[in-house]
Amino acid sequence: MPMVTNKRKAGDAGRFQRFLHITALILLAALSGGATASAAAEDGYDLWLRYAPIASAQNRKDLPTQLVASPTTPIQATALAELQRGLAGLLGAAPPLVERVEQAGAIVLGTPASMPQLAAFAREASDLGRDGYLIRSSRINGRAVTAIVGHDDAGVLYGSFHLLRLIQTGQALDSLDLRESPAVQRRLLNHWDNLDRTVERGYAGFSIWHWHTLPDWLDPRYTDYARANASLGINGTVLNNVNTNALSLTEPYIEKAAALADVFRPYAIRVYLSARFSAPVEIGGLPSADPADPRVRAWWKAKADEIYRHIPDFGGFLVKANSEGQPGPQDYGRTHAEGANMLADALAAHGGIVMWRAFVYSNEQPDDRAKQAYTEFVPLDGSFRDNVIVQVKNGPIDFQPREPFHPLFGAMPKTPLMMEFQITKEYLGFATHLAYLAPMYEEVLRADTFVQGPGSTVTRVLDGTLHGYKLTAIAGVANIGTDRNWSGSHFDQANWYAYGRLAWNPALDSRTIAEEWVRMTFSHDPSFVAPTVEMMLSSHEAVVDYMTPLGLHHLMDRGHHYGPGPWIEGGPRADWTSVYFHRADANGIGFDRSPSGSNAVAQYAPPLARLFGDVRSVPEPYLLWFHHLPWDHPTKSGRPLWDELVVRYDRGVAAVASMRATWAGLERFVDAPRHRQVTAFLAIQHKEAQWWRDASIAYFQTFSKMPLPEGHAAPPQPLEYYQSLSFPHAPGHW
Ligand code: GCU
Repeated sequence: MPMVTNKRKAGDAGRFQRFLHITALILLAALSGGATASAAAEDGYDLWLRYAPIASAQNRKDLPTQLVASPTTPIQATALAELQRGLAGLLGAAPPLVERVEQAGAIVLGTPASMPQLAAFAREASDLGRDGYLIRSSRINGRAVTAIVGHDDAGVLYGSFHLLRLIQTGQALDSLDLRESPAVQRRLLNHWDNLDRTVERGYAGFSIWHWHTLPDWLDPRYTDYARANASLGINGTVLNNVNTNALSLTEPYIEKAAALADVFRPYAIRVYLSARFSAPVEIGGLPSADPADPRVRAWWKAKADEIYRHIPDFGGFLVKANSEGQPGPQDYGRTHAEGANMLADALAAHGGIVMWRAFVYSNEQPDDRAKQAYTEFVPLDGSFRDNVIVQVKNGPIDFQPREPFHPLFGAMPKTPLMMEFQITKEYLGFATHLAYLAPMYEEVLRADTFVQGPGSTVTRVLDGTLHGYKLTAIAGVANIGTDRNWSGSHFDQANWYAYGRLAWNPALDSRTIAEEWVRMTFSHDPSFVAPTVEMMLSSHEAVVDYMTPLGLHHLMDRGHHYGPGPWIEGGPRADWTSVYFHRADANGIGFDRSPSGSNAVAQYAPPLARLFGDVRSVPEPYLLWFHHLPWDHPTKSGRPLWDELVVRYDRGVAAVASMRATWAGLERFVDAPRHRQVTAFLAIQHKEAQWWRDASIAYFQTFSKMPLPEGHAAPPQPLEYYQSLSFPHAPGHW
């Protein structure tokens, strides 16, 4: 617990210290010719929690003078410690901690129950709901204060991080009236981390979980991981890959997970585990994992009891079953609901949940892969236990640069559905390409399903308001690894950040989130913030243009998904090939999902089915997702389809060139090591965008047989060259 001093003198001493510190900083900056030019070397480890000194501190009257808190729980103590740490960095010294408000400018934090001075907020706080908080400019003992009032302990923690964010982003603190509650109850990261510390689709080094040294050694990184997540309101983490090893459920590994849970608990983060459906056979010695077998049910019940003995607040299981070769209830002729319900029954007494993934498609099934999850799950609507939630990827195929929203959203009113976004960029250039994903998340969250008329957005499915779901959740597949900067590149940190912010409040917009992140991560200087934010906002569309324009999808090279592979065919299954998805031939290109094709459009509500199903009304970004069209089909620009494709490929490459130019002009605002790495990665992205463009054009031209539009250069190499490139050691593919 932190020490409490109750002396006015401490306040004066603190102010004096701060004054000295700031003066020293100003002198230093002046001596070296400007604060920004001399930015100290940084490696990105501190993420958006750098708490760099605020330049204007000496002139501001609204900054905190005292901290008034008496934490009664570990989470409250964490909140206070973070405020002390943050304010020490931002202001030069943390304001003194006192028991009662003595000075204007105090920050008072707690819950109305734990902090008598906040009792007046009791009614308002109780309306906020779980995890909610108020930040209010108010008066206590006749003095102006900032009150951080949590509905509960987690609310105090989130409110404290919010206040730090306000200071970090340069906002005034003198007339605050903020009221926050999360839209979704469970806001999770999914780690696709294996027990050998490789990370499936991970491009930031190895897993940060040192399974071998857990539970005895607790790497300080675990605490920093928890801080970063708590700062965003993330309150759960699935530690292990969905393609999981049953060993994760053995007692030694449960003890390791429990040690992590102990580290995360003061940050209001719960641990969850991916569960392998066949674990009763693999580690339980049973002959089958049939959910109808009483021995299997008893095994899971005992396993759940064992886990809760070690981790009393264990969140529950994430399950990938009967998908891409994983075991599942269908191996025994049972449904997804029967499998999920068995696990749900085992967890129910402890308050645990099952997140059952809908990412399923069958090898034997000749139907359009985009349709299969809907076909399998919609008939099961209403047959899942109350503590089951079905986890659905944002689109019907697999985290492509652009997909329409998954038709399951809105189609299961009696079964809670949660979103699975991918933060790691498996299909968007790994960690080297700068692609800010918030616009992509936003596009999906705001998409209108029309299932209950206009305004039935995907967000309203997720937050439970559309169908009255009791259980709500959202997950992001993490991009975190052992790299010093956590995410493999500095700008990929923004995707972790954006996911967390949107998980808390899906109504936030990409620009606001980018601005916050840029100010906290790099610099406040408007001459830096504005161009950097523009660069981020244009980056996702650039990737779509140079990889998969106009609704094309799944054209990456086989297995590792690095680089273009539109020619990929053959192999174990058709729906793992590019030719399955683009269907290019002499007549045209695109997947016909209209009523004359697979009729996948019929899985959407009628207004959308009509919109998507008609080539005259389909939004152009989804043109070739839903339609197979002749090469000379006139597009909205008036150009024939082939020309439009080429124009978009080139537009994507040009966008990256302009991102490079923008970044080159920002050198004076960023410390050299971070600037250098971003510069190098943008150069890689430029080279690879060109490669994508050249290889795609060389390949598709063999079908279109059309010349390139004027002013667009032919690919410098023959198609065979691009096809000959091989990357057996591309990262993230294990
Ligand atoms: C993709 C990805 C796999 C992953 C799978 C899943 O297919 O390439 O690595 O296991 O999604 O989400 O289960």
